[in-house]
Amino acid sequence: MRILSIETSCDETAVSIIEAEGGIISPVYKILGNALYSQIDVHSEYGGVFPMLAKREHAKNLVPLLLKATELSGSTTNIPEITVEKKELVKTILSKEEGLFDALFSYIETHEVPDVDCIAVTEGPGLEPALWVGVSFAKALSILLDKPLVPVNHMEGHIVSVLMSDGVEGTEGITPQVSFPALALLISGGHTELVLSEDWHKYKIIGQTVDDAVGEAFDKVARLLHLSYPGGPKISKLAKESRELELKKQHSELDWQLPRPMLKSGDFNFSFSGLKTAVLYAVHNRLKEKEALSDVEQKMLAEEFENAVTEVLIEKTKKALDETQSESLIVGGGVIANTYIRNALQTLITTKFPHTKLLIPTIDLTTDNSVMIGIAGYLRYVSQDPRILQPSEVSALTAKGNLSL
Ligand code: KG4
Ligand code: ZN
Repeated sequence: MRILSIETSCDETAVSIIEAEGGIISPVYKILGNALYSQIDVHSEYGGVFPMLAKREHAKNLVPLLLKATELSGSTTNIPEITVEKKELVKTILSKEEGLFDALFSYIETHEVPDVDCIAVTEGPGLEPALWVGVSFAKALSILLDKPLVPVNHMEGHIVSVLMSDGVEGTEGITPQVSFPALALLISGGHTELVLSEDWHKYKIIGQTVDDAVGEAFDKVARLLHLSYPGGPKISKLAKESRELELKKQHSELDWQLPRPMLKSGDFNFSFSGLKTAVLYAVHNRLKEKEALSDVEQKMLAEEFENAVTEVLIEKTKKALDETQSESLIVGGGVIANTYIRNALQTLITTKFPHTKLLIPTIDLTTDNSVMIGIAGYLRYVSQDPRILQPSEVSALTAKGNLSL
């Protein structure tokens, strides 16, 4: 079957069409069309994501992205008859999304629509104004295409993103086998969670951050160093340079000492806000004596910060693997684009848990995307999830900023 999926939870607007078969036991996926617009440039000058700005950008970009994903999929069909009642209902649903109703209708009046069997959309968690745009758009499409709508939890999307072997268009998915119980480490700009899963759709959060998410800490430390949003990749690049140049060894007098928060707290929780504050104080202390940090100091700070974050993530994951006897370790979320953290997890598995299978998504599916929402939507659809909505029922669906797994 073919699934049209929509993601607007934060600052990526994404629409894709995937084909899936094999059911929940051995699903096989193929990306037919994937269109993504990253709003990074829009938000970077503000140092973070502005919810109302994200909302407006989503509304502007959804129809062009739907058009692109549909063209790439190469498979279209005629739209069912649009009655006056249907049109009025869609108008009401889209009434708060600036320009979206007009853009959608000028699209469907001049084009065929994608040939799909259901629609999947991120209902939460995320920035609520941003989520609403995708949810409203998906509701409108469900009515117009007369197809069922599957609400998807964004975090489940990050978990199942490991099921796609390659994110390149037209590539056959060879589904890696997930053995349960599986432990999922979810690390993104909004979340840091350890989730124990006994089976698909059965999740228990066993640990999470008590304050900032790990990606948020990367972004805040980057801002302190006057690096633009998103800071993760930039901090990581500096840290890499510091390691390559062996700066900690060459300039030990300039080294930084940052805490490893909650390393020995005895539970699976995390805290990154104190680490960010420690960076702030350390930088302020040095700036008492001079105008600005040198390049060397900045690189060394990035390395020490990345080391601190990685040590905590590894220690907690190790403890959770020990105690849960998990057969798979799934890692998802934007922060796993970080090579240093990826390698550290790989080493942990090879040296300490050789019988545990490590599953990490391909780089293009680590940060937010709609392919993972389509994958999650398929698994919910084939398991006849009671939350699936028929077109006549979609009005009830809302965006849920704080949705939990
Ligand atoms: O999953 P994602 O795209 O969005 C959320 O759902 O939050 O994650 C984005 C986060 C940002 O905080 C970004 O700085 C971080 O992932 N990130 C990284 C790297 N690439 C992205 N953090 C550390 N190292 C990276 N290479
Ligand atoms: Zn995410």
